[in-house]
Amino acid sequence: MSNKAAIYAGSFDPITNGHIDVISRAISLFDEIIIAVIENPGKTPLFSRDERMALIKEQFKNHDKVTVEGFQGLLVDYAKQKDVFTLVRGLRAVSDFDYEIQMHHTNLALQKKIETIFLMTDPKYAYLSSSIVRQLAALKGDVTDFVPKHVHNALQSKYKESQHA
Ligand code: PNS
Repeated sequence: MSNKAAIYAGSFDPITNGHIDVISRAISLFDEIIIAVIENPGKTPLFSRDERMALIKEQFKNHDKVTVEGFQGLLVDYAKQKDVFTLVRGLRAVSDFDYEIQMHHTNLALQKKIETIFLMTDPKYAYLSSSIVRQLAALKGDVTDFVPKHVHNALQSKYKESQHA
């Protein structure tokens, strides 16, 4: 029997309940989900890539179908290196569609084997993004419903650190 794997790539700065919803549903569709965390030289994230990966690993520590890896460069090159050509993306709203289709077509132009599976996010998370979470946390807004407890704690420590910096 062939092992059906998929890559769920992103910045995850930090992982939110919206991402977790997509991953949890992808777990039921695939034998293995590789969560690929980008090191994007063009961006200064709130959490380092190691911190972002640690927060994801903590969330999925009891799921043997989930692996967490870092990558940099083109996603299609990473996919080729893993020999996994199925990508999973979450779609929150029509506003995501333009960007997602552009990314899919670019990836496809670079690598003919690429397929992207889109999962519609739970309506509860239709407005949720890592940037909204960062913004709320920075302004001491309540993010309890948007991220798991350990991510909430990490956000609090991060913003305490930056106040003392
Ligand atoms: O969390 P995000 O920002 O929605 O994730 C976007 C990501 C990391 C999947 C995308 O930016 C990406 O694939 N970056 C790698 C560079 C690349 O392959 N670019 C070509 C496709 S646009």
